[in-house]
Amino acid sequence: MHLEGRHLLNSTDFSIEELFSLIHLAQEIAENPTDYSQTCRGKVMASLFYEPSTRTRLSFDAAMKRLGGSVIGFSDPDISSHSKGESIEDTIRTVECYSDIIVMRHPEPFKPHKLSTLISNPLVNAGDGPNQHPTQTLADLFTIFMYKKKLSNLKIGFCGDLKYGRTVHSLIKAMDRYEDNSFVCISPDNLKLPEEISKNLASQLIESNQLEESMKDLDVLYMTRTQKERFPSVQEYERCKGSYILSHEKLRFAKEDVIIMHPLPRVDEIHESVDRDKRAVYFQQAKAGMYMRMALILSFLGIQ
Ligand code: CP
Repeated sequence: MHLEGRHLLNSTDFSIEELFSLIHLAQEIAENPTDYSQTCRGKVMASLFYEPSTRTRLSFDAAMKRLGGSVIGFSDPDISSHSKGESIEDTIRTVECYSDIIVMRHPEPFKPHKLSTLISNPLVNAGDGPNQHPTQTLADLFTIFMYKKKLSNLKIGFCGDLKYGRTVHSLIKAMDRYEDNSFVCISPDNLKLPEEISKNLASQLIESNQLEESMKDLDVLYMTRTQKERFPSVQEYERCKGSYILSHEKLRFAKEDVIIMHPLPRVDEIHESVDRDKRAVYFQQAKAGMYMRMALILSFLGIQ
């Protein structure tokens, strides 16, 4: 698949057909990694992270290196000329001179969208504040497809901080495009899914503040962390944290074939006792993210 001349800024930027092509390519790479190990030789990916990350940054890094390419960039803007007062607009124009694709995480919503107008090489939004995380959605779609063999006719529970959780905002919009999906949004009253998202969904949506009773007929349970860094005060975060903790004991309410997902990092919302359950797939999800990012890089660079 070819995505040259495009950016990835929102989880709905690609068509359903393009998403299936990416999923199939990611699957093919996962099954035959050596066939792809030199495909990006001579290509450079720039990785500009203005916010902390483990999975997104390192899986992009690993993806490019496993394709034979190289990576430049920073994980902390204070070691760049940002600390001398350079504007981010000048930074991105400069970095485009040295690279073939740019991956960026920024705390300000829509910052990558604005910067994308300044460059021609592909810009990938690796998370813009509480707004969106489209490449996590690609990893999530691949994971759901691996386990459920479909992306439609599924009942998906989203649990935790649905107000600030960008992975939820991106995934719920993406899953809304497939037929016959329904959503159960489980959160405290002050961390509900923003109305500007819920009111634009075509799928059925139920809101609840009870995890146990919502769990019984879910096909996917997507747990999330309370996003401490987005709260206006520590006191407000302290009032909300620990609202939902999934333990192995609580899983007795769930279906035998539910999959438990989490974009990670987790704090306390999934007890370690759940990790041993075959329904817990969050580390497989993290690995799927790397293969999906390999497929994305190849498609953006027009290599296949
Ligand atoms: N899922 C995710 O975005 O994790 P990181 O913040 O570690 O990149």
